[in-house]
Amino acid sequence: MTTSIKASALTVEHVTLELGGRPILKDASFSVEAGEFIGVLGPNGAGKTTLMRAMLGLLPLSKGAIRVNGAAVVRGNASIGYMPQIRSGLAGRRVRGRDFVAMAADGHRWGLPRASAAANADVDRVLDLVDGRALAARPLSELSGGERQRLLLAQCLLGDPKLLLLDEPLISLDPRHQTGVVDLVRRVQRELGITVLFSAHELNPLLNSIDRVLYLGNGRAALGTIDEVITKPVLSQLYGSPIDVMRVNGRIFVMAGDVEVDKLDHAHEDGPDGHSHSHDHDHSHAHHHSGTHSHDV
Ligand SMILES: Nc1ncnc2c1ncn2[C@@H]1O[C@H](COP(=O)(O)OP(=O)(O)O)[C@@H](O)[C@H]1O
Ligand SMILES: [Mg+2]
Repeated sequence: MTTSIKASALTVEHVTLELGGRPILKDASFSVEAGEFIGVLGPNGAGKTTLMRAMLGLLPLSKGAIRVNGAAVVRGNASIGYMPQIRSGLAGRRVRGRDFVAMAADGHRWGLPRASAAANADVDRVLDLVDGRALAARPLSELSGGERQRLLLAQCLLGDPKLLLLDEPLISLDPRHQTGVVDLVRRVQRELGITVLFSAHELNPLLNSIDRVLYLGNGRAALGTIDEVITKPVLSQLYGSPIDVMRVNGRIFVMAGDVEVDKLDHAHEDGPDGHSHSHDHDHSHAHHHSGTHSHDV
């Protein structure tokens, strides 16, 4: 046991968040230590994206306070890297990998002919971090989903942030690429000693990588180890209905009756409604690194 007290990377104190007059999070309090890798779980609509947006200063708090590295939330906080959930349209783009990363760097704006040497060096640094040099010369349209995800992670790492907010990086990746992305984020997170919040539908791809889990549901938040949070009583409260937790061969299944709850979410995601589910926030003004380059243009 160590007696050293780690600095908090993130503290959420009695926070209430509302959208359209409806409470999304009610009086939530928790604290994330510097250097932790946190899986952010919870059913569709639980407020994972909304909470990240609040940390970025994009959504005013109805009550309470959020502190990032000890400082109150501000818009354009350079110490936060953000990967928004909406990333559609990348697969059709001819822009080269390096240019795509550079678009998010300070001093690289479309229309500016020359970037500063410092900005170029930072682009090289983040490409190396994600092992992305080989992707630099290739157009996005020729990359796999997992390779594009590596470049998106590189963008988030520009400017050397201390906290990464990654919103559902695994969506629409096949299981093999999901594992690759989780392993990459884990490696980079450890190498840089930064704090990561990584949201996902499914716990299992994250199981062996995360330090703790932040589970959202029913307006509440529970932060703890997997053994503390992924339990019948805690999850039943977060889902507002009886939940069973089954452990099979090192995997964990969260069940409502005989239905796996994260599979339920996927059914919505891939269903005939396509991606029409609620995630219509405007992410284009997100973080100052990812701000002016919309992924969707
Ligand atoms: N602009 C908005 N106005 C009102 N409600 C919204 C808005 N955006 C999202 N919501 C609702 O807020 C809830 C939380 O959404 P979200 O944070 O996207 O959840 P998650 O990321 O966990 O799926 C959902 O019920 C969603 O329908
Ligand atoms: Mg979301």
